[in-house]
Amino acid sequence: MGELLNGMKRTCLCGEVSEEYIGKKITLMGWVSRKRIFSCFSFILLRDRSGIVQAVVDSSTGSEELIKKDKELKSEYVVALTGTVRAREEQNINPDMKTGKVELAVEDIKILSESELPPFQIDEKVDVSTELRLKYRYLDLRRPNVLDKLMLRHKVTMAARNFLSDEGFIEVETPMLTKSTPEGARDYLVPSRVHPGNFYALPQSPQLFKQLLMVSGFDKYFQIARCFRDEDLRADRQPEFTQIDMELSFVEEDDVMALNERFIAKIFKEVKGIDIELPLRRIPWQEAMDRFGSDKPDTRFAIELCDITDTVKNTDFIVFKSAIESGGSVRAIVAPGCAAMPRKQIDSLVDVAKTYGAKGLAYIQLKEDGIKSTISKFFSEDELNDIIKTVGAQTDDLVLICADKNKVVWDALGALRLDIAKRLDLIKEGTFDLLWVTEFPLFEYSEEEERYVAVHHPFTSPMDEDLDDYMNGNVANVRAKAYDMVLNGCELGGGSIRIHRSDIQAQMFKLLGFTDEVAQERFGFLLDAFKFGAPPHGGLAFGLDRLVMLLSGAESIRDVIAFPKVKDASCLLTDAPNVVDEKQLEELSIAIAKKDEE
Ligand code: AMO
Ligand code: AMP
Repeated sequence: MGELLNGMKRTCLCGEVSEEYIGKKITLMGWVSRKRIFSCFSFILLRDRSGIVQAVVDSSTGSEELIKKDKELKSEYVVALTGTVRAREEQNINPDMKTGKVELAVEDIKILSESELPPFQIDEKVDVSTELRLKYRYLDLRRPNVLDKLMLRHKVTMAARNFLSDEGFIEVETPMLTKSTPEGARDYLVPSRVHPGNFYALPQSPQLFKQLLMVSGFDKYFQIARCFRDEDLRADRQPEFTQIDMELSFVEEDDVMALNERFIAKIFKEVKGIDIELPLRRIPWQEAMDRFGSDKPDTRFAIELCDITDTVKNTDFIVFKSAIESGGSVRAIVAPGCAAMPRKQIDSLVDVAKTYGAKGLAYIQLKEDGIKSTISKFFSEDELNDIIKTVGAQTDDLVLICADKNKVVWDALGALRLDIAKRLDLIKEGTFDLLWVTEFPLFEYSEEEERYVAVHHPFTSPMDEDLDDYMNGNVANVRAKAYDMVLNGCELGGGSIRIHRSDIQAQMFKLLGFTDEVAQERFGFLLDAFKFGAPPHGGLAFGLDRLVMLLSGAESIRDVIAFPKVKDASCLLTDAPNVVDEKQLEELSIAIAKKDEE
C-alpha cells in the first residue's frame, strides 16, 4: 500500500512556505496533522519537522481523482501534496502560525503511506502519560515541542564541535569496550565470548584514555562521548548519557576555566542569544557548603545557611550538645514570612530534612504575638533571642535549625532552602545562574570503608598550597585542583588538573590505601604510560544532556534524549533489558543464578 515517489521531488519543507512562494507551484511531503471539512473545502494541516502549513482541496473545482484521494486522508497519513501557493484572505490569516499568511491550493495528492489511528493525538497541547509517550517515542518525537528540544540539542552539539575545533582541539573516539576501573558509580559489564569469565566494562567516562592521549602529544582532545553509569536514576541522571569531554596539555586551572567560560558563553549566545558576563563567579567549596549547604549552589534566591554553633555552644540541650561534641555543628535557615505556616506543612519540611539523614529539625516561629518554638523548653527567652539575632530573623519569619554531623546539616538545610524557595516561588524563571565551585576537598572520609577516598578520581592533583600537607599525610584539609561549573543549582560540568608527577601519584595511592600491586592491577596501563613523558595536563567534561535540559527549560533529562530510559533503567519502547536465548548465554559461558522466589 502507498504510492511510490516515481521521481517526484519535494520542493521545500512545510515550515518554509512563505509569501515568497505565492503563485509558485510546489510539492510538499509530510504527515497529515489534521483535516477539517468546511462547505466544499477540505483543510489539511500538513506537518514535517520544519512546521505545519495549511493545504486546501476545493471539491467544487477539483478533479474526481483529487476528491477521492482527499476523502481517504486520515491523521498521520504520509502524503505528497502538489499545488500552487496563494495568499490567505485577510480574515483567514493565522498570526500564531509561521506559515499563517499563505496556503497551498492542492491540485494533486499522492498517498505515500497510510496510518493506523495513533495511540495519542500528535499535538503538543494534548497531555499524554509518560509511559505512553515513551512506548511510542517515535510518535512523541513528531510533536513539535518535543522535536524542538532535540533540534536545540543538535545546535548545542554543533556549536560545541565548532568552538572546540576552532580552538585547535582534535576529536578522537575512545573505546566503548574497555576495562573496569570504577569511578564512583557501578559499571555496566559486557561478557566476553572469547575469554570466558572475563568482562569488558562500558566507560563511565573517557577519563583514562584522554589522559593517555595527552601522553601521546595530542595537546588538545575533545569528544562528544557516550558514558555509562549504573546508578539510581533521577530527573537529571540517565544510565547512558553524553559528555562534551575535553583534555588539554601544558595548562593550569585558570586556563581550563577561562576556555570553558568562553565555551559556555558562546553556546548561550549562539543557541539562546543570551550574553553571559565573564569571568564567571568562583565560590570555594567550603564557602558553598557554609552558605548554601551544597557544592552545586542555586544562588538565584537569597536564603543562606547560618552557623549558630557558637551561639548555642553552652547549651545543655542534648541534641545540640552531642552534635557539637562529636565535631558536628548547629546551623539554621530563615524561611521569610513563614511564621504562620500550618503545622502540617512544617512537618513536611521536617520530613524533607529527615530524608537527608537529619534526626530532626527544631524551629522557631516569630509570630506577631510572640515566639513559639519546639526548643523553648531547653532555652531561655534570651538564648532564643540570641539565636534569632544571629540568624537575622524578623517578625513573621520561621527559623529552621538542624544539629548533626556537618554533612547531614548541609544536606538537610541545603535541600530545605531549595524546597522553601519553590514553595514561596522565589526563583525567577528564565534566569541563568552560572558559577564555578572551586577548591574541592581532595579526599573525603568513608565511614563505610573506614579510609579516605578520592572525591573525584585518584589522578586529581592537590592544590600547590596544600602540597606539603599532602606529602606529609595530613590529608583532612587538602584541597584539589578541581572545579565544577554550576548552572541554576545543577552540576553542568566538572574537571581538574591531573597529577603528572610520579612521587605525587605514588603518595595518592598510599593515602588511598592501595598497595603497589593493586594500583598496578587497576591502573597499570596509565601508570606505565606516565613513565614515558607525561605533560602537565587537565580537562573537564560537560554533561551535554543536562546542558540541553537547562537551556530548553525541560523538566527532565529524558526530554532531551531521543530514546531515554525510565526510572528502573528500562526502555519502554524496546523492552530492554530483556532475557536472551540459552544459546547466547552458553556461548558466553554464563549461567543465570536463580533468585529465590518469595
Ligand atoms: P563527572 O563524573 O563530574 O566527571 O561528569 C561530568 C559531567 O557529566 C554529567 N553527568 C551525567 N549526566 C547525566 N546522567 C548521569 N548519570 C551523569 N553523570 C554525570 C554531569 C557532570 O558534571 N572524567 C570526569 C571529567 C574530568 O575530570 O575531566 C567526569 O566524568 O553534568
Ligand atoms: P526530642 O527531645 O527528640 O523530642 O527533640 C526535641 C526537639 O528537638 C524536636 O521537637 C525537634 O524540634 C528538635 N530536634 C530533634 N533533633 C534535632 C536535630 N538533629 N537538629 C535540630 N533539632 C532537633
